[in-house]
Amino acid sequence: MEKIIVLGGKGGVGKSSISAATAVLLSDLLPEKKILLISFDMAHNLSDLFKLKIGDKLTLLNKNLWGIEPDADSYAKKYTKDLIEKMKTLTRQMPLVGMLPQIEKFIDKTFTADSIPLALKNAMFFQQILDAEDINTQNIQFDIIIADFPPTANMITLFEIPEDQVKVVLKYSLNFYNSIKGAIRNISKMWRNIVKPFDDQEERRELGKDIFNMIVELEKRGERISDLIHNIGSLRLVTIAEKPSFEEIKRARDLTQRYIKLEGIHINMIIPEPKKCDFCEKIRNLQLSYTTAIKKEFKKLKIWQSEKLKEEPIGLDGLRALAYEVYGDNISAEEILKPKM
Ligand SMILES: Nc1ncnc2c1ncn2[C@@H]1O[C@H](COP(=O)(O)OP(=O)(O)OP(=O)(O)O)[C@@H](O)[C@H]1O
Ligand SMILES: [Mg+2]
Repeated sequence: MEKIIVLGGKGGVGKSSISAATAVLLSDLLPEKKILLISFDMAHNLSDLFKLKIGDKLTLLNKNLWGIEPDADSYAKKYTKDLIEKMKTLTRQMPLVGMLPQIEKFIDKTFTADSIPLALKNAMFFQQILDAEDINTQNIQFDIIIADFPPTANMITLFEIPEDQVKVVLKYSLNFYNSIKGAIRNISKMWRNIVKPFDDQEERRELGKDIFNMIVELEKRGERISDLIHNIGSLRLVTIAEKPSFEEIKRARDLTQRYIKLEGIHINMIIPEPKKCDFCEKIRNLQLSYTTAIKKEFKKLKIWQSEKLKEEPIGLDGLRALAYEVYGDNISAEEILKPKM
C-alpha cells in the first residue's frame, strides 16, 4: 500500500464526485497500479456516480480500478460468528455447562453484530481491506485507496475508532463475560446441587484468556491502521466558496490533525464567468472573495479550484471531465499523489 487519499468536507460539496473523478484519473494515469475507491458514507452513492450497481462486492470500474460500498454489518457478523464459535467450544468443554442447551442459545442471543457500534464495524471492515483479507473471494493487494468519507462529524468518529476500539471491544467483551457468568449463576441456582460450573478456576481463566487474545489481536490491528493513516494517509478537504462550508473545513482541519496529514483543499463548484447575468455575476464575485479568503487561510497547502460543470459529472466520461476540471489537462499522477503548493 502506497497511499490512502481521504476526501472530507461538508455535505453536498462534491466529496464523492471528486473522490470518484480522482480515482478514475489515477487509474488512467497509473495502469500498473491497483486502485480501490471505497465509500465510508452510510448513504453510499458510488453506484449512482458510475451508473453501475456496486454494493458490497468489489466491482471493477475501470481496468485497474475497483469500487466497493461496504455493508458495515457483514464483517462484524463474521467477527461475532468466530467469537461465538469460540465461546461455544469453550463452554462445551466445561463439565456439565456444555450440556446445557440454554447456554448456546444465550451466546447466540447476546453476541450479535447489532451490538457493535457502526463506526467500529467500519473500522473492522477497513482493516480487512488493508490486510487484503479475502473479500468476496478476491484478495487484491491495493496500491492506492481513495476513501469517500461522510461529512465531518461522522468522519471524525471513523478516525477515532482505531485508537479507541480496543476500549470499546474490551467493554463489550467484559459485558458479555459478565452476563454469561450471571446466566450460569442463575442456572446453577436452579440446579443447585447438580451443576457447579465455574468452580473450576482453570476454566474461567481459559475463557478469559481467549477473549483477551482476541482483544490483543484487535489492538495490534488498531495500531496498524492508525500508523498507516499517519504514514501514508492524505486528507483533502472539499469546500465550495461559501461561508458555512469554509467554516466547516477550518473545523475539520483542527479536528483531524492528530490523525491524518492535511495535504490539500478543493474549492469546488465555482460559478463560471458569466456572460450576461447580474445574479450569476454577483454570486461569482462573492465566491471569488471566499476563494481568496480560503487561499489565505490555507496558504501552505495545495489548492485545487474547479468550476461548476454544465453537465452532471457522472459515468466514466463525466467523471473524467470533472477530473480534468479539477486537476487540469496535463497533470501527472505524482502531482495528485504528492501535491506541492
Ligand atoms: N464541479 C461540479 N460541477 C457540477 N456538478 C458537480 C460538481 N461537483 C459535484 N457536483 C454535483 O453536486 C452534487 C453533490 O456532489 P457529491 O454527491 O459528490 O457531494 P458530497 O459532498 O459527496 O455529498 P454528501 O455529503 O451528500 O455525500 C452531485 O449532484 C454532483 O453531481
Ligand atoms: Mg458523498
